[in-house]
Amino acid sequence: MIYYFSGTGNSKYAAEKIARLTGDRCVNIAAIYKGTVGSVVGRNDVTGFVFPVYYGGLPEIVKRFASHPEIKNNLAPYVFAVITCGAMSAAADLRLEQALGRQLDLSISLKMPDNYIIAYNPSSKEEALQTLKNADGKLTGIADRVLRRETHRETGAKGKIATAFMYPFYNIFRTTFFFGADDNCSSCGLCEKICPVDAIKMIRGRPEWIKNKCQHCTACINTCPRDAIQFTPLTKNRDRYSIFKLK
Ligand SMILES: Cc1cc2nc3c(=O)[nH]c(=O)nc-3n(C[C@H](O)[C@H](O)[C@H](O)COP(=O)(O)O)c2cc1C
Ligand code: SF4
Ligand code: SF4
Repeated sequence: MIYYFSGTGNSKYAAEKIARLTGDRCVNIAAIYKGTVGSVVGRNDVTGFVFPVYYGGLPEIVKRFASHPEIKNNLAPYVFAVITCGAMSAAADLRLEQALGRQLDLSISLKMPDNYIIAYNPSSKEEALQTLKNADGKLTGIADRVLRRETHRETGAKGKIATAFMYPFYNIFRTTFFFGADDNCSSCGLCEKICPVDAIKMIRGRPEWIKNKCQHCTACINTCPRDAIQFTPLTKNRDRYSIFKLK
């Protein structure tokens, strides 16, 4: 079985492709918590985790899920992780190992288009398409490595230092205080629907954010059809990224 979490679609895309090529099934961790997953029967000889790196570490929901006794006590004999990133996944694989309480057999860092528009402008559509094309080729190889039960870990000393330095900032910047909808908001309610963790509620036609649920996944700000969501005025002139807009 392959478990994934995804904000703007990269990790979902990766998980679905690996599942397809390895004859497995994948399931959305956020949907498990929402209770909207029916019975999904995947392979019981492999457990996979596919998710985006956040500040060199794990999204909160992935950490919570991986450290849940029902998950960590029922892992398959072979466990792999594919960590999608804009630049590098640092030592996120080691953080996953800590949560699971065991070593991964295979961990791969997969460069995909960067979605963190809260910090910078994302790459152009052409660059994003090229990055995705490269990732696509790499995904075929990853599936093959999983099928061959290859063992390999990617994290080096540089990654460990990067994670130790960056990951504490995730909790600091995982605030919803700066999220807001500007006058372009049409009250369509899409942001409320697409938030993977139900951290948005429409109140009097405007989205309101629920801090303790938000993963900072950027699905809302990147997906709003009117680019009406901002995270401080800095995001006003930035482009938006979502794999669903590319395809
Ligand atoms: C909160 C947050 C933090 C991020 N931190 C990193 C990072 O430390 N290193 C990196 O290379 N990419 C980082 N990214 C980029 C994402 O990991 C990358 O775009 C990922 O493929 C998005 O996956 P998704 O589309 O499945 O949500 C970050 C993105 C977000 C939203
Ligand atoms: S998706 Fe955008 S336009 Fe629609 S309700 Fe949310 S902020 Fe407003
Ligand atoms: S509120 Fe926005 S950033 Fe936070 S989890 Fe939902 S979609 Fe992601």
